[in-house]
Amino acid sequence: MNGLLQRQFGHPTGRLGTLAGAVMAIENRRLNRLVVDALGAHEGDRVLEVGCGPGVGLEEAARRAGRVAGVDPSPAMIGLALRRNRAAAEAGRVSVAVAAAEALPYADARFSLAFGINTVQHWTSVRDGLAELYRVLEPGGRFVLARRLQRAGRGLDPHSRGATDDELAHLCEQVAAAGFTQVERHDSPLPRETVALVSGARPGPAATPCSRTRGPGAPR
Ligand SMILES: C[S@@+](CC[C@H](N)C(=O)[O-])C[C@H]1O[C@@H](n2cnc3c(N)ncnc32)[C@H](O)[C@@H]1O
Repeated sequence: MNGLLQRQFGHPTGRLGTLAGAVMAIENRRLNRLVVDALGAHEGDRVLEVGCGPGVGLEEAARRAGRVAGVDPSPAMIGLALRRNRAAAEAGRVSVAVAAAEALPYADARFSLAFGINTVQHWTSVRDGLAELYRVLEPGGRFVLARRLQRAGRGLDPHSRGATDDELAHLCEQVAAAGFTQVERHDSPLPRETVALVSGARPGPAATPCSRTRGPGAPR
């Protein structure tokens, strides 16, 4: 029974999934705010959330950035996310899509920032998901992937399924192998948990070649 319920947090479906989504929305509010703060989004940013679940992260991001998009393969989660962000969606500032990290329905370089919270461990292929993240981020674009750290816990306690140091080290290696630079892990304490933020950046545009100017003082 526990296994069945736990599965709903990673792959929510139907009524049980909707219930799991409601729990996530309450449980993960602080964490979502922390990650969006760490991302440092501004009005001009185009932000993507991968694995948006019930849409709390989208709501937080839409308070700071001009345009926010969210994907999740679960239609139940996309339904909750849309309901939570209806006004912003109607205003054209938030959009959502049923899609997985491994096949993002967006054009190349569409986003300046991206994030994902407690989702990467559920992806079918982390390598393919990171390749997609790289593709849809513009050169110089940044992302944060957050995972709660593991600590002793039993049954439905989500911390018992948190990330270990080895898993996070492996994730950092995969991020670097995908071509991202400035790869870092930063641990942030919250009142009831500690969260690891793994971040990286798509390398920026190549430096512009030295341009030639003519004018007073310019060598001839
Ligand atoms: C534990 S929930 C976290 C939801 C939300 N980010 C939060 O902080 O409340 C994990 C989410 O990852 C989604 N997910 C599972 N497989 C995925 C994939 N391949 N790509 C993107 N998201 C996925 C699930 O549908 C679920 O909504």
